[in-house]
Amino acid sequence: MQVGLKIWRYDSKTGDRALREYEVDAPEEATLLDCLDLVKDKHDGSLAYRKSCRMMICGSCGMRMDGGAVLACRVPMYEIAQEGRVPVISAMGNLPIVKDLVVDMDPFWQKMQAVEPWLQPGYDQETEREHVVSQPRMDVIHKESLCINCGCCVSECNSMESDPDFLGPAALAKGFRFVGDPRDARTVERLEHYSDEHGIWDCTRCYFCNERCPKGVDPRDAIAKLGAEAMHHGIDRDMGARHAKWFVTSAKTTGWLRETELVPKTQGIVKSIKEIKFAMSLVPKGKVPPPFPQHVAEDVGESRGLYDLVKEQGRDGAQGIVQGEKALSRLEGMHGHVEHPSHPYDDPRSFPRPFLPGEEADGPSDGAG
Ligand code: SF4
Ligand code: SF4
Ligand code: FES
Repeated sequence: MQVGLKIWRYDSKTGDRALREYEVDAPEEATLLDCLDLVKDKHDGSLAYRKSCRMMICGSCGMRMDGGAVLACRVPMYEIAQEGRVPVISAMGNLPIVKDLVVDMDPFWQKMQAVEPWLQPGYDQETEREHVVSQPRMDVIHKESLCINCGCCVSECNSMESDPDFLGPAALAKGFRFVGDPRDARTVERLEHYSDEHGIWDCTRCYFCNERCPKGVDPRDAIAKLGAEAMHHGIDRDMGARHAKWFVTSAKTTGWLRETELVPKTQGIVKSIKEIKFAMSLVPKGKVPPPFPQHVAEDVGESRGLYDLVKEQGRDGAQGIVQGEKALSRLEGMHGHVEHPSHPYDDPRSFPRPFLPGEEADGPSDGAG
């Protein structure tokens, strides 16, 4: 088949930048990476890109296709060629370009290092046997353990674009991999650190990282779990945490989000007073709800009941974050694999199903043995 590619060429030494078009004769099973190999072998040996495993394991071949990050070895070209499309290939975003499709991964690794991505157990004495952790306890961090450090999530991260110091989706997902590990003894210290400026609460929840991650890690879900765990441990100094806390209080007390009180509860009285002028400018546009009278929803008992159930079952930490069906259906190579779970809790690899009063819990019960 004939495959057309437009490739952004760039040389950081000279600053030269140009969009070049190539056409290669490729076998029908060719991937984007195979086509780049053909361009380099047969048309232009100066094209620079990274690759190694060619099978979605090493994470080297991250780049953008038509503006979205992909692993080049994961993209089949047959349908694209059949449609006559000529995709635009460029380097990943949010990382400095060295040459053509090769980015400098140093900022990525620095952030990864900042979350201390190694186990810090609370035991240091040798034992006769290894410390065994039950499978259900390890399932909790299975998704986060799938990361291959490709940087596709970082490439598309909105927060990182506006704040290059944001720890970012890959590093934070790695952070949860250790926060959720029952053998790690530095949970609180980690959560304190990840809750600092440029951490958990600086994520804008755009979900692009979940969308682009080729391995189903779902970094945004991991960040949500970190936030829930931080609050569970009383680490709520950040405005983002206070914002989330107020959502819960408001829903529990009235069944509604009391937006007028959201600002003082989140930002404090002094800062709120400074915002009054801005708030007044929103009144004529109908953007400021009347503060009085307090409206209590007719079915407020339902939200209170839900709150009580979450407390009763200890799901006010990461255990309360529901993993999406899509994410679960992407998990591969696990025990008791379920092809398309109809509900996240139907899958034995998920968090344990919440249980109603009178029912029995079926969650992970043991820890490090
Ligand atoms: S959800 Fe958060 S971490 Fe993920 S890409 Fe968006 S801003 Fe970045
Ligand atoms: S979380 Fe996904 S996209 Fe991000 S580095 Fe890991 S494997 Fe790549
Ligand atoms: S070459 Fe290893 S992930 Fe693509």
